[in-house]
Amino acid sequence: MKILVLNGPNLNLLGKRQPELYGSVTLQEINERLAAHAEELGVVLEFFQSNHEGELIEKIHGAEGKHAAVVFNPGAYTHYSLALRDAVASVTVPVVEIHLSNIYAREEFRAKSVIAPVAAGQISGLGADSYLLGLSAATAIAKRKKQDR
Ligand code: DQA
Repeated sequence: MKILVLNGPNLNLLGKRQPELYGSVTLQEINERLAAHAEELGVVLEFFQSNHEGELIEKIHGAEGKHAAVVFNPGAYTHYSLALRDAVASVTVPVVEIHLSNIYAREEFRAKSVIAPVAAGQISGLGADSYLLGLSAATAIAKRKKQDR
C-alpha cells in the first residue's frame, strides 16, 4: 500500500522558516520520521514538495489508482486555492490535510481552509507530529476502504 506525502509552498524551508511557529525540524527530518513510522505501519511512502500549484494539482491527479491515500500540507494554498480543492474533490483517493501550526489560533485569514470540506479529515497544530498522526489516519482510512471493497 503506497501513500503520498505532499507538501506545498515554502515547506521546503522548514527548520529555517519562522521556527517560533513551525519548529526547528527540517522537512528532511520529518520525512525520515515518517519513513520510520511507515515501516511500523507496513506502508510505502512517496514524498513530493512543490512551490507550484499546478505541480501539486498534477500530483493529486496522478495519485488516483497509484496511491491508497495522501497526507497533504497545502501551505498557504489551504486558504484560497479552489483549483487544489477541485483536484482533491476530483479523485477518489482519501486526502488527509495536515498543518504544523494551529491554523485556527492565528490570523483570521488562516482560520478558513478551502481544502477541508473535500478532505477525509484535518489535523492542525501538533507540529511535526501532525505529519505522523496524519500518516496513521491516512493508513487507517486506506485499509478500511480496501476492506469495504
Ligand atoms: C501551514 C499553515 C499555513 O497557514 C501556512 O501558510 C503554511 C504552513 C502549517 O503547516 O501550519 O505555509 O500549512
